[in-house]
Amino acid sequence: MQVKIRKPKLSDARELHQLINDPEVIGNLWGYPYPCPLSRMKEDVQNGIKDWTTGQAYAFTILADDKIAGSVVLEDPNEDKGRYEIGIFIGKDFWNKGVGTKAIKQAVEFGFQELNLYKIQADTNSDRPASGRIMEKAGFRLEGVRPKAEKRDGQFVDLHMWGVTK
Ligand SMILES: CC(C)(COP(=O)(O)OP(=O)(O)OC[C@H]1O[C@@H](n2cnc3c(N)ncnc32)[C@H](O)[C@@H]1OP(=O)(O)O)[C@@H](O)C(=O)NCCC(=O)NCCS
Repeated sequence: MQVKIRKPKLSDARELHQLINDPEVIGNLWGYPYPCPLSRMKEDVQNGIKDWTTGQAYAFTILADDKIAGSVVLEDPNEDKGRYEIGIFIGKDFWNKGVGTKAIKQAVEFGFQELNLYKIQADTNSDRPASGRIMEKAGFRLEGVRPKAEKRDGQFVDLHMWGVTK
């Protein structure tokens, strides 16, 4: 699929909400309730647009063959704004088609070329192998593992810490 990332628009909120409001998608994202109200996504998109002006975060809407497929964001900068965390979600209909990996690569390229960042990081959970796999495919290195970081449904989950430097 042809994948592009672009700045979010307020009109993206409805489609992004439909994509995220799925237990298999939202269940792997921090801080979202399920079900997720549309108002929450509208607020997120509004904040995402505002954050571009302050550099607090750089959110992108992901398009796959010109259809809205998800969102990727550089967020939580450190003090000198040289290092950001990256987060992503892709709607289930678009999974396993290379969309997530291409979107991460494009956001990383933006971070290094346009923002002159020196590092981008991500944490993933060992019980969600796809999220680690896209980091690996996008050129991140596994920098460490925090064993037994969570217990989910009676099973221990390790936290994998990924990073890529310029
Ligand atoms: C993680 C996510 C973004 C991946 O998006 P995607 O567009 O499906 O990613 P890609 O198609 O580029 O790559 C997926 C890779 O994971 C692999 N994969 C998928 N499910 C897997 C599983 N259960 N076990 C092992 N590998 C798996 C795929 O085979 C593929 O790797 P490959 O190309 O080597 O075959 C998407 O699944 C998602 O949004 N999940 C919910 C939210 C989330 O987890 N966000 C990440 C938080 S850091």
